[in-house]
Amino acid sequence: MAIAVFHVDGEFYAIDDTCTHQDASLSDGWLEGCTVECPLHAACFDLRTGRPSGPPARKPVRTHEVVLVDGQVYVHETTEAEVGTLAKEVA
Ligand code: FES
Repeated sequence: MAIAVFHVDGEFYAIDDTCTHQDASLSDGWLEGCTVECPLHAACFDLRTGRPSGPPARKPVRTHEVVLVDGQVYVHETTEAEVGTLAKEVA
């Protein structure tokens, strides 16, 4: 699955690139602060949590850990198993 990386105010954020509503690419969307707006139906996702702010998207996108080492950006892809663990921790 494609991952989109965003650079906001000196911080890097990585999320799944595919919107959870349909198949739009969030990297084609619009960035405002830590929120990206889907280019197809305007659902907005928080880059820090992956959560949508409201319809039409209802499910969050996965977020991924970003690490900077010697000026290189590395992304640790969050697995589906890790997503399940995190969801239980939040509930
Ligand atoms: S495809 Fe993203 S809001 Fe519909």
